Amino acid sequence: MLKEKLASQFEFLRAKTPPLIGVDISSSFIKMVEIVDAGKGLYRVERYVIEPLPKDTVTDGNIANIEAAGEVMKRAHKLMGTRIRNIALALPSAAVITKKVILAGNQREEDMEYQVQSEANQYIPFSLDEVNLDFQVLGPAPNSDEEVEVLIAASRKEKIEDRVAVAEAAGLKTTVMDVESYAALAAFEMMKGAASGIESKDITAIVDVGAQTTRVIVMHEDQQIYSREQQLGGYQLTQDISRQFGMPIEEAEVAKKSGGLPDNYGPDVLHPFNEKVVLEITRALQFFFTSTQFNKVDHVVISGGCATLDGLEEMVAQRTQVHTVVANPFANMALSSKIKPRQLTIDAPALMVACGLAMRRFDPA
Ligand SMILES: Nc1ncnc2c1ncn2[C@@H]1O[C@H](COP(=O)(O)OP(=O)(O)OP(=O)(O)O)[C@@H](O)[C@H]1O
Ligand SMILES: [Mg+2]
Repeated sequence: MLKEKLASQFEFLRAKTPPLIGVDISSSFIKMVEIVDAGKGLYRVERYVIEPLPKDTVTDGNIANIEAAGEVMKRAHKLMGTRIRNIALALPSAAVITKKVILAGNQREEDMEYQVQSEANQYIPFSLDEVNLDFQVLGPAPNSDEEVEVLIAASRKEKIEDRVAVAEAAGLKTTVMDVESYAALAAFEMMKGAASGIESKDITAIVDVGAQTTRVIVMHEDQQIYSREQQLGGYQLTQDISRQFGMPIEEAEVAKKSGGLPDNYGPDVLHPFNEKVVLEITRALQFFFTSTQFNKVDHVVISGGCATLDGLEEMVAQRTQVHTVVANPFANMALSSKIKPRQLTIDAPALMVACGLAMRRFDPA
């Protein structure tokens, strides 16, 4: 008790979690972000990198080539130029089964663990020997003082082990294993406030247009109330460029980002791609309205590497008639002098997961 009292009065007595960096192993990149506490309630982005993965290193969220991924992670860490070797990683949401259950409160830790296991046995489709189980007490159960709501998360061991092995190959230590969608939502939390006009009570659709996949999730009162995933992303645009202008894929990928494509790129390639993305968004919203009690959203947040494509934000706003913003989880943070603000604005939408993972450094000890 006394120790607790002291700890709250004297910052330095409180056990600090060791510093860590956030690392997102996505379908096409390894992304790293380091955030530090700048004091006075302000965070500062210290450094970040986005390093491309060779094709087929990661497929459908599985690490197909641990050695190749390890090499890229090692290179990325070197480019970061940080001394921190502890990292927070995340599993793809599809690799994790989660379930909320109600259990008796006031239990000893061991008893709770035992109960979690027997609950898990009922809904996990494989043997418990093959899975890693984790649980978190969310708070008191809605209608009872004696019970608590518990979130159980389970993932196949090999999914976790593969990621940890990639980190080890790069000389890094995994100290936190999170879930991609949770990390992205932690980054979304950082965006709420006066500047973005987004509040918790609002209904917000977060649309992530990545390299391979477009994911739409709808948030309300800090709860995810809808999600949908489609195979559509920037790699398709790269392929379209390659086909239209007879370029190798690698060249098309560079040209897409640096500009300098022929004049008809806009109308003949980019515009039709944006149309596809917008169609997917309007479809997802339609499904959301018909499958829930809701009939509007207040905001659309576009994230992922394709968020800054020319004309996309405007097209989404115009077609959905909803307030639309491009994600920037760093908008309320200070930047170290090493970071170029303009480049960060372009990269920020693709760094949601890495940012959310980097924030795990500030977990209460
Ligand atoms: N400045 C840019 N201009 C155009 N396209 C870009 C730009 N930056 C990134 N992209 C594209 O965005 C895509 C990568 O986005 P992101 O980093 O969100 O993907 P990812 O997380 O690897 O993919 P996924 O979520 O599907 O696994 C690539 O197709 C890339 O070419
Ligand atoms: Mg992604």
